[in-house]
Amino acid sequence: MRLSSQKALSLVRRILTPNSSLHAQWFLTNRCNYRCRSCGVWRSKKQQNEVSTDEVKAGLNALAKLGVIDVVLSGGDPLLRDDIDEILRYASRRFITTIYDNGSMALEKINALRNADFVAISLDSLNADRNDYMRGVKGAYKKAMTAIEGLQDEGISVGVAPTISQLNLNEMTDFTRYFTDKGIPVWYAVYSHDDTDSQLFGIGKKNDELEITDKQAMARLCDVLMKMKRERNGVFITDKTLKALRKLFLTGERTWKCRALQNFLMVNPQGQVSGCHLYEPIAKVTELPELWNSPRFSALRAEYSACEKCSYVCYLFYSVHNGVHGGLEILQDQFKNARLLTSSAREAKRIPA
Ligand SMILES: C[S@@+](CC[C@H](N)C(=O)[O-])C[C@H]1O[C@@H](n2cnc3c(N)ncnc32)[C@H](O)[C@@H]1O
Ligand code: SF4
Ligand code: SF4
Repeated sequence: MRLSSQKALSLVRRILTPNSSLHAQWFLTNRCNYRCRSCGVWRSKKQQNEVSTDEVKAGLNALAKLGVIDVVLSGGDPLLRDDIDEILRYASRRFITTIYDNGSMALEKINALRNADFVAISLDSLNADRNDYMRGVKGAYKKAMTAIEGLQDEGISVGVAPTISQLNLNEMTDFTRYFTDKGIPVWYAVYSHDDTDSQLFGIGKKNDELEITDKQAMARLCDVLMKMKRERNGVFITDKTLKALRKLFLTGERTWKCRALQNFLMVNPQGQVSGCHLYEPIAKVTELPELWNSPRFSALRAEYSACEKCSYVCYLFYSVHNGVHGGLEILQDQFKNARLLTSSAREAKRIPA
């Protein structure tokens, strides 16, 4: 499915409503069949139980009541859940719904994915050996490329999601050119790691090999991506995000205040909510509507706003673009891409496997 114009309009309307530009990431499971070097999820030995389908639906209802606009379904690998078809159908009726997959199951579950607005397939390199090394599984490159091609052929709105690290930094320009030439948008993450193992759900695993040490090269990449955005469609990162990253890498200065629990929140596989995955859960997702305006949540927002513990792009993005103004900035910055996403499904070209 591509984003229908009706849904795009509803998105614009909700973005322009004060205090409603809320984004949620739901980590539906911490099970995973991959062993990525950057990732702590598969290493987790902690609580494995997951909320049931009905509990996910009740949680999604609570998020809709709160004014959440877009939901990202992630994990672990969310396609490992047997009920992912039902969850995607339910979520996409209420939100702009994106789902992540490492590429290993997308084709097998293609009928479920038809219900998503966007499918992000994670791939870190155009070099098969390097990609498989980073993903910890032989054949990961081939599977991801085949999945991207298969989804695009079926008219499903698919994007490729690289995590930029020291190992692939210098190929990101070619990577971006390769996919955008084929009509496949690129959604970037930047390698980051958690400062602690204490939270229930860890993502970034400390790994010296991946840590970006060539900060000048990272700053140059930010400049190049800003330039590429002017020249082509499909570079899915805003100038404001790139400028914040550039400054961070060059000077260590943070030009944003974190907006966890204001502009975004996360839900873990047990249906518990935190501002972000680095903090302990504070409530059940179904309790959110009654707690959202409580003094306790205001105090937590103040604490998160002073926090400088991480620079995950998914959190940075929703912090630098704040409120109605932030929503307008995103629309303006990504106008060309919004047109790309709402255009007819079949115009994109094929990628060789
Ligand atoms: C945690 S994964 C979960 C979804 C799915 N298993 C996948 O890999 O797409 C979501 C995204 O986070 C990225 N990621 C993994 N480790 C990361 C890290 N340390 N810093 C930033 N992003 C990371 C992955 O590459 C992927 O694109
Ligand atoms: S990044 Fe995704 S595919 Fe890789 S181990 Fe983590 S959850 Fe699994
Ligand atoms: S900066 Fe924000 S997103 Fe990052 S750990 Fe702190 S509260 Fe969480």
